[in-house]
Amino acid sequence: MSSSPCVGGEIEPSKTQPAIDTGEGEVGSAAKTAEMTQKRERFSEPDLDTVKRIKVADDADHVDYDEFRNALLLGEADFTFTRAFATMFDRPITASEYGSAADLCSRYHEDDEVKFTSSMASLAAIPNVSNVLASLNCRILGQDVVPCQRFNSVSSKFQDCSFWPDVSDKFSLIIFNFPHTDQNGKASRLVRALFKQLRICVDDGRLPSDFTLEMRLREFNEREGGWTKHRAAYCHEEAAAESSFTPVGKYPDDLRRWQELGYEHTMTKRDAKIRGLTGSVWRWRPSNNKEG
Ligand SMILES: C[S@@+](CC[C@H](N)C(=O)[O-])C[C@H]1O[C@@H](n2cnc3c(N)ncnc32)[C@H](O)[C@@H]1O
Repeated sequence: MSSSPCVGGEIEPSKTQPAIDTGEGEVGSAAKTAEMTQKRERFSEPDLDTVKRIKVADDADHVDYDEFRNALLLGEADFTFTRAFATMFDRPITASEYGSAADLCSRYHEDDEVKFTSSMASLAAIPNVSNVLASLNCRILGQDVVPCQRFNSVSSKFQDCSFWPDVSDKFSLIIFNFPHTDQNGKASRLVRALFKQLRICVDDGRLPSDFTLEMRLREFNEREGGWTKHRAAYCHEEAAAESSFTPVGKYPDDLRRWQELGYEHTMTKRDAKIRGLTGSVWRWRPSNNKEG
């Protein structure tokens, strides 16, 4: 892949990326594991050149979750991805959103407290959903104290809490789908801040040095001088390299899989419409040393 120039602000609706059919049919799980290992090895060089050369994996089926002990989901908005994810990931999930409980109630439940409480209660009742959090800001995850709100299934209310002390097991997977904000430089600054904060957490041991960050990121093609260029608004490759994260995989759009399980993409702007959303799946791990 060539260098990905950053374009600021909102991005245009993306064009549909064709699904690639390898025609290989079903493979046994041992063969699949060996293939995954090979694939990971191919993606494990830490320098920025490698970041720019990372290849798209052959098919989205390779985005699997067998290796992870637990997961933290960031910026979940209406939690439809959480519900979809919980149907196929049977280990503990901490699901979070940046907006406060009041924001969530107003934005996704028409300010109807009863509907909101019942939705949060049903989410928290999913056996492997261990925490439902609001007001969790990924820009401050590396601070000593990270305030947030936790849904209490007994009182059916969100209560103020502090994020890290309540984490019983270190996260082996963190997912943030379509990070975006209306504030300050929008997506690229948010992504840069996320990598920086996660780097702090790895360095001080709050996150394991082999944890995986997964993000679904919108991409679109742009005609430039007769060439179709692939651009992304997040500057994620640069942000990852700056905080010493190594790409370990890039996979084609897998949204249909989640949409079939009930996921509905949520836009930052209330009335924004999105046509033909596609989202490549990116995975990173911390590089072994910061100079990586
Ligand atoms: C485009 S929406 C995507 C929502 C959801 N992940 C999805 O795929 O439908 C962007 C999300 O990023 C969240 N967000 C914005 N700033 C954030 C921050 N500082 N920390 C955590 N999440 C943030 C927003 O609240 C919103 O839920």
